[in-house]
This record gives sequence, structure tokens and C-alpha cells, in this order.
Amino acid sequence: MTTETVHVPLGGRSYDITIGSRLIDQAGALLKPHLKRPRTVVVTDENVFVTQGERLREGLASAGVDADFITLAPGEATKSFGELEKLTARLLDLGVEREDVIIAFGGGVIGDLTGFAASVLRRGCRFAQIPTTLLAQVDSAVGGKTAINVPQGKNLIGAFHQPVAVIADIASLDTLPMRELKAGYAEVVKYGLISDPGFFHWLENNGPALLEGDDAARIQAIKKSCEAKAAIVGADEKEKGKRALLNLGHTFGHAFEAHFGYSNKLLHGEGVALGMALAFDYSVSEGLCPASDADRVKAHLNSTGLPAEIADLKSNITGDIIAKYMMQDKKVEQGKLTLILAKAIGDAFIAKDADLSRVTAFLKEKTGE
Ligand code: NAD
Ligand code: GLY
Repeated sequence: MTTETVHVPLGGRSYDITIGSRLIDQAGALLKPHLKRPRTVVVTDENVFVTQGERLREGLASAGVDADFITLAPGEATKSFGELEKLTARLLDLGVEREDVIIAFGGGVIGDLTGFAASVLRRGCRFAQIPTTLLAQVDSAVGGKTAINVPQGKNLIGAFHQPVAVIADIASLDTLPMRELKAGYAEVVKYGLISDPGFFHWLENNGPALLEGDDAARIQAIKKSCEAKAAIVGADEKEKGKRALLNLGHTFGHAFEAHFGYSNKLLHGEGVALGMALAFDYSVSEGLCPASDADRVKAHLNSTGLPAEIADLKSNITGDIIAKYMMQDKKVEQGKLTLILAKAIGDAFIAKDADLSRVTAFLKEKTGE
């Protein structure tokens, strides 16, 4: 099985993403060049610890790297100030030094919390990402966004803090529940929709094999996704411009996630899938995009079981409620929405000044009001 490397070009903060099968077993050898001393602290959650923990411990030990494990409760609630306080205290008690490398071992929840803890511990220490969900392997572990949630909203307290390395082991996906895998797949589709129609076409043909466990398809899709993200992050690390394209589907999607209380009634990737379908449908309704492209997007999402219509949620949410949540988006400026819309599959663009009344009318039509 081939191992692929994607470089994230950020000058002194550059790093490589290594993608392959059973890389967790080689984590010590892969990380050793980054370690100033042969010890680390692994932050993980209970599900990942039970299914993958021993493999990582052995993978580190086989290269002579000693590791303490901190195992947290799984779920979005772990991305909180309370958990950050406990985690940083534990890391300090374990004697973590600024030049040590903390390992974030899990999905986006563990990656975001651990990355943020690393960004503030001793005014910034180093960390590596070993993502174990598809969503984290193609999105959250790459690009240095770290955050916790507060009552005012999701990801509102955080920092840009790049890892020193990312190791994406597709073997870890074997224990991931299918629903989580599909939610991560929505983020893979996103890269095709933003700028790569050829990749979207490839996914139409190879997506089912990827979801069923085809290793080569998984490695190829993760590599293409990471290349796309690395190019955008390399050009716009702090989201002053084109990095916003990565939010395709997110403004619509976040509204539904908020409505369901960020619970497992709607996973983040499921919200993104529905949001991308709505972004394409809204682009069609504004005369920007051919209807046939939106139909292709929805057909592909639906074929994998991801939601592509509001009706798929089986909820009585109204257009006004969705619009109200959308106006809480962090990209709202002077009452105007910024949306990521599309001229075609693979041709997304940033639309500033989206008119809320038109968006609301579109949503009401969608909800059948
Ligand atoms: P998650 O971290 O909650 O993981 C999903 C579930 O899968 C959890 O129950 C976890 O315990 C379990 N799990 C993880 N790996 C497993 C494995 N290999 N086998 C069995 N179970 C496993 O969710 P996620 O979808 O990975 O991440 C979502 C989070 O990522 C959200 O908080 C979101 O805000 C954040 N995010 C951040 C960025 C970013 O750029 N930083 C981008 C997208 C999403
Ligand atoms: N997931 C969006 C970003 O990293 O910018």
C-alpha cells in the first residue's frame, strides 16, 4: 500500500501530512524527527482509546517514545472551557515543556481542543495531529484552526496554531461508525464542488467504494482533499480571503446544526451536505448556476445517504427560523450575509452582500410555506 505525503506550505510553520494504511503502528518513527526528547502526551477520547489506543502506544514504544495518555469523554461537549482548564492543568502536571510535541489523537473534537490547549500552554507549545475520523483527516486536522465552544456559539474562542505534522491512517477508519464516515465524506465532496470538477466526477464513480472500505480510493480521496486544503491554507492561512471558500455549505448547514442544538440529531458533515445542496439550489434560483449541476450534486449526496433536501431532516423547521440562525453566522457584516455560492460544480465563489429577504424567500419555498 502506498504512502502519500502532502505538504502544507506555510514558511517556518510548514508541515507534511502523511497518508497511508497502518501508519499509527509507525507513529514513533514518523514523529521522532520532531521530538527533542523521546516522550510525548497523547490526548484522545474514550472511543478512540478503546479502538486504537494500544496500537498508538505500541507504535510510539517501538521507536522508543514514552507516552502518557489523557483520555476524555467523547462528544462536542468536550470542546469547552471546563475541559480546556482540566486538560491544560493535566499537561502541566505531566511536565510538558514548550518544545515537547503533544499528540491530538481522535476526531475534530479532540483535534480542536488539543490544538487550542497547545496554543496557550506555556504561551504556545508544539503538537501533532493523528486524526481518526474521515472528517478530521480531510479537514479539521489540517490548516491550524483550533477552538472550543461557548454558550454564545460554536468555535468562538480559539486560535490559529499549526501542528508540526499530521498522520492520517486509513486503518483507523475501520472502526469508525458508518454514519460518521459518511459525514466526513461530505467534506471530501466539498473539495470537488469548490474547485475540482474532475475530482467530483471521480467521487461519483469511486465514492461508494471509498465508503465500503476500498483502501486505494480512501488514500486517493484524502490526498486530493488535503492537497486542495493545503493550497488554500498556504495562500490564506488566517481567512482574510479565499479560505472562506472552505465554508461552502457551512452557513446554511450551521443553521440546521444550531436548530438541533449541535447534537447527534444532525452531525456537522450532514449539515454541510444539506448546506452545500442548498447553496447550489440557491445559486440556481439566483440564475448563477445551471440546474443540472445542482441536480447532480443532490443526486450524489443522496446516493450516499446524506441529506440534500430540508425535507430529508423530517423536521418542521421554517424558513424564518433557518434565516434567523444564518444571521448569527460569523461572516455577517452590517446585516449582510456572506455566502459561498457556485457558478458550476468546481466553480464556487464568495458572494458578499447576500440579500437576506431573497434567501428567506428561497428557504420558505424549500420548506413549502
Ligand atoms: P468527533 O471528534 O466528535 O468524532 C466523532 C465520533 O467518532 C466521536 O464519538 C469519536 O469518539 C468517534 N471516533 C473518532 N475516531 C474513531 C475511530 N477511529 N473509531 C471509532 N470511533 C471513533 O467528530 P468529527 O466529525 O471528527 O469532528 C467534528 C468537530 O470538528 C466539530 O467540533 C467541528 O467544529 C470541528 N471541525 C473543525 C475544523 C477545523 O478546521 N478545525 C473543521 C471541521 C470541523
Ligand atoms: N474548515 C474550514 C477551514 O479550515 O477553514
